[in-house]
Amino acid sequence: MYDYKQPWKEKIAAVINVLLNEAGVSEQINLQQVVAENPPNPQMGDIGFPMFGFSKLLRKGPPQIASIVQDKIKQVLKNENSNASVEAQGPYLNVRIDRAETSKAILNEVFKDQDFSFAKPNNMNGRKVMVEFSSPNTNKPLHLGHLRNDVLGESISRILAACGAEVQKVCIINDRGIHICKSMLAYKENGQNTTPQSEGVKSDRFVGDWYVSFSKKLKTEVDELVSSGIKKEEAEIQAPSMKKAQEMLRSWEEGDSETIELWKKMNGWAIEGMKKTYERTGISFDKYYFESETYKLGKDEVLKGLESGIFFKQDDGSIAADLNEDKLDKKILMRSDGTSIYITQDLGTAVSRHKDWPFEQLIYVVGSEQQYHFKVLFVLLKKLGYPWAENLHHLSYGMVNLPEGKMKSREGTVVDADDLIDSLKEMALTEIQEKGREEAVGEPQAVAENIALGALHYFLLQTSPVKDMLFDPKESLSFTGNTGPYLQYMGARISSMLRKKEQTENEEINFSLLVSDIEWELIKLIAIYPDTLSEAANNLDPSHLIGYLYELSKTFSRFYHECPILNCDDTNLSSVRLKLSYAVMLILKDAFHLVCIPFLDIM
Ligand code: ARG
Repeated sequence: MYDYKQPWKEKIAAVINVLLNEAGVSEQINLQQVVAENPPNPQMGDIGFPMFGFSKLLRKGPPQIASIVQDKIKQVLKNENSNASVEAQGPYLNVRIDRAETSKAILNEVFKDQDFSFAKPNNMNGRKVMVEFSSPNTNKPLHLGHLRNDVLGESISRILAACGAEVQKVCIINDRGIHICKSMLAYKENGQNTTPQSEGVKSDRFVGDWYVSFSKKLKTEVDELVSSGIKKEEAEIQAPSMKKAQEMLRSWEEGDSETIELWKKMNGWAIEGMKKTYERTGISFDKYYFESETYKLGKDEVLKGLESGIFFKQDDGSIAADLNEDKLDKKILMRSDGTSIYITQDLGTAVSRHKDWPFEQLIYVVGSEQQYHFKVLFVLLKKLGYPWAENLHHLSYGMVNLPEGKMKSREGTVVDADDLIDSLKEMALTEIQEKGREEAVGEPQAVAENIALGALHYFLLQTSPVKDMLFDPKESLSFTGNTGPYLQYMGARISSMLRKKEQTENEEINFSLLVSDIEWELIKLIAIYPDTLSEAANNLDPSHLIGYLYELSKTFSRFYHECPILNCDDTNLSSVRLKLSYAVMLILKDAFHLVCIPFLDIM
């Protein structure tokens, strides 16, 4: 992208170096040492250069330097016959650049290629990055926490790819273990051959309902035991339902055909339902991994480590790793009965992933409550001697709460992802109806669904991943605030203008006409889109893009109100303003895709 600050950095560096020479200082400065800022208000100029950094070398005060540099550059500009100007203001040298020329340079670049290539930074060029996200358990449907995870993973994958990376999106389905047996057991005991079809329930919800039913029964049993004087922890082990679930896990591990059949049936339901939610939210994966297929590989890794003396056998027969050196606790890797635990499968999964697709980096998008788990996992893989273990990264994200209170995942008080989107959609639909826009939007149901997704994804990505957040459905849907629908509305507004006025193919567009403050602000924002994108990629944080999009939309809105576009008397100005709006729309479209916000032509 054309960087309008660059030629000025060069000019200033050249002048400073001349001054250094004149002062007999042997040192010279480079371009990185010239800092460019945006002046606090456009009246002061387009770029501000603070002179503080040169003070020591030149043994002069910043204001004095600013004034000397001003004089020298004025001379240069005069010789170049330039329309630009400079002015020393205190310790700053403020530059007013030739807007007409710069607008032209920037917008020509935007429209240069059909494929919008100006907006494709290549800071990740060719890098092979695997991104793991979502990674549900097959005992219940996706919930609000997954929605944050999903959109983070999908958005980061798209951003990295936009910056030139080769990205492989993967998901691990935790489809075995005691928690899976819980919903299986409840269904086996009380399900009486009902199916999601027979009950008319979405299939993952159907499975989740059995999990809830198990939890309720277990709680009753535990309460009874506790009131008979048994300690809670003991009661949780002694409860008949828990014992039966353990028993079921054992028959699963032994390959008991009836258990396996039930497991296949219920997992099939769970996964089928989740895939519908992924489809609905625009999330996809290149490959699914299943714990039931990788946990054995994990056990092999543990046994290998035992053989080579990295791990050790404890008195009770379990296998553990001493992580004292790494300032971590001792970690059990396999139980005394040979059964595996959560981390065992992760060892196997990581190894098989690198075999399948030799990544340079693997990013795990997983909640912050698992920070310790990933620390341990990465250390173990390094100990096992995998060189790629150096490039594993846990992208840890915070909790999402609803105004009503905390979301819990184990108790059945969760907010299902589907329910949440349904209610957002309902609210958006009501808004469309109240505005009397049903006819105008054509397909109100589809539009409402897309507004719901725009609201949700914007809100979830707006906060940087590490922070906990409160999801406020009402606020997320506001058409006027810092929201997804506000952005979508700007896009639709431009789209509608473009429909009203057919652009002729070879129309002469004079970008040099775009010189007013607000137009220039918009153009400057357009110019920094690629940088914003690479910043989001480097920090693995889509909130940079969200903030940028909000700024762009707000600035466009001001432009729209201050500058007549379609009904501008000057037809040349009208055309070029429409073209500027079109450039904004291209960026909105491109960036919306990266942050999973649907673009709407009408709303
Ligand atoms: N399914 C797990 C859970 O619900 C998350 C999996 C995270 N990924 C991993 N590779 N361990 O807690």
